[in-house]
Amino acid sequence: MKISYILILFLSFLSCKENQTFQEVIPEPPIKHIHATLADSSMVVSARKEASQIGTEILKMGGNAFDAMVATEMALAVCFPYAGNLGGGGFMVYRTQYGEIGSLDYREKAPLAATEKMYLDKNGNFNPEKSTLGGLAVGVPGTVAGIFAAHEKFGSLPIEIILKPVIELAKKGFVITEQQAERLQEYKPQFEKTNNGKSIFTESFKTGDTLKNMALAKTLERMVEHGRFEFYGGETGEKLVQFLKDKGGIITMDDLEAYEAKWRDPIVFSYKDLKIISMPPPSSGGICLAQILKMVEPYPLSEYGHNSEKYIQVLAEAERRAYADRSYYLGDPDFVEIPIDSLLSDNYLSQRMSSFSFDAATPSSTIKPGKIVGFESPQTTHYSIVDSFGNAVSVTTTLNSAYGSKLYVNDLGFFLNNEMDDFSSKPGVPNIYGMIGGKANAIAPQKRMLSSMTPTIVEKDGKLWMVVGTPGGSTIITSVAQTILNVYEFKMNMQEAVDAPRFHHQWLPDAIRYEFDRFPKELISDLQKKGYPENSETDPIIGKVDAIHILPNGKLEGGADFRGDDAAVGY
Ligand code: DON
Repeated sequence: MKISYILILFLSFLSCKENQTFQEVIPEPPIKHIHATLADSSMVVSARKEASQIGTEILKMGGNAFDAMVATEMALAVCFPYAGNLGGGGFMVYRTQYGEIGSLDYREKAPLAATEKMYLDKNGNFNPEKSTLGGLAVGVPGTVAGIFAAHEKFGSLPIEIILKPVIELAKKGFVITEQQAERLQEYKPQFEKTNNGKSIFTESFKTGDTLKNMALAKTLERMVEHGRFEFYGGETGEKLVQFLKDKGGIITMDDLEAYEAKWRDPIVFSYKDLKIISMPPPSSGGICLAQILKMVEPYPLSEYGHNSEKYIQVLAEAERRAYADRSYYLGDPDFVEIPIDSLLSDNYLSQRMSSFSFDAATPSSTIKPGKIVGFESPQTTHYSIVDSFGNAVSVTTTLNSAYGSKLYVNDLGFFLNNEMDDFSSKPGVPNIYGMIGGKANAIAPQKRMLSSMTPTIVEKDGKLWMVVGTPGGSTIITSVAQTILNVYEFKMNMQEAVDAPRFHHQWLPDAIRYEFDRFPKELISDLQKKGYPENSETDPIIGKVDAIHILPNGKLEGGADFRGDDAAVGY
């Protein structure tokens, strides 16, 4: 089993390396014969091998997918501090072995002392540094509340058993990969500047070094002893509040005590014979994913061909319209009324696409948020788990940008988020993902900022069919949509579907973003002539999908994105 796993990894590695040197990628099909990791009944796919292994270890001990969720989430906080966290938040979508579905919202909240204009200067100009770096950027963290809520409702193993391998990992350390060494080096000056002092993260690391985090091991040990209270009222909470006060933050003990994770009804919709279950607000993920897939459903996508001109056009046009609605209607459902039924109705969506023609792009300037009758006027990581009982969890968790606010709590061993930047600080002014919003996503005390995270579970013929999700800010929703379509419409295996080149349109800016060097220049230029400018100012990769496809024979096919150090582990 181990040898075949290593062989599969090696083959995937070869295909990936080969793929990276492609000059022109032939769009149909993009990558051939990439092996997916196979398992008989249980699997964890996450951003790090160590985290996938710890999650699988818990499953092997008889734990269920929810126990594995707690272990994987905390293991990522240890070995993937770029996004894995205690100081951030996230969302979980689940489907139990009995077919019950639901979602858990452990998104960060604005502190009680937050105000609508807190990031504007005296002239009313938005200061993005304040919402992204340092104490004021930090939202009240939700992750610890999230894991304890999941464990309380569904867990089967004691928390000390679940966290034992995580604490050991923090003490023994993990080996720094090439990607991690590069990132740690890149962000070192910001860690030094923001924290005003030394920490384990201001040391110089190179590939192959081991990083131990004794402070985090101690925090986790105290959590084992005192439970959720440790973070929201105990020693950890007190140290956190004091730390933030020293760094100009406004989070108080009252904020921590008031925090609660929330169980919410997921967004459920059909795409042909698939039943798709995804995250509801305060994430825009489920609604936008539903809008996009429902808008493209009437078009014969598989006939057009994967990443063909027509496929890109129709998907980009649906994306443009969905993101325009996002900017206006979506926000925290505890604060704003969201016309979900209208936004997802067949009539509304077909009428939204009625202005689309294959002859030329519909300029974003002519697309406004759709009119809903009666409506009055809102760095991340994903992991997917399936256990041998048939439970599935899909979790996306984040600090927002890389290492969040860059604030590292030395004493406690974790970074703090800069999720406040996901609010719309000033109407019409973009955040770090170029996302524009309005009143629905304006800052208010205790409000959750709108997210794009899209943890998703798909059923086919009443059975579990796929668990999928990704980081990537605004590109999350479109990456999840393309991954589902890659398997369903273009018959790729899970690894091919995850690795295939991706593109993205988000209404504004009015341009298509393509993964660098993975689309033929001729195709991009043909689309340009039709009115789809290329957005070339962005990152070389779009998303980092970790997904599991359940095959008709019940075996699991893992897709761990080659864009990162991601790994699928199963048995
Ligand atoms: O919640 C959101 O939509 C963002 N804070 C997610 C950030 C993200 O995906 C960064 N990863 N690359």
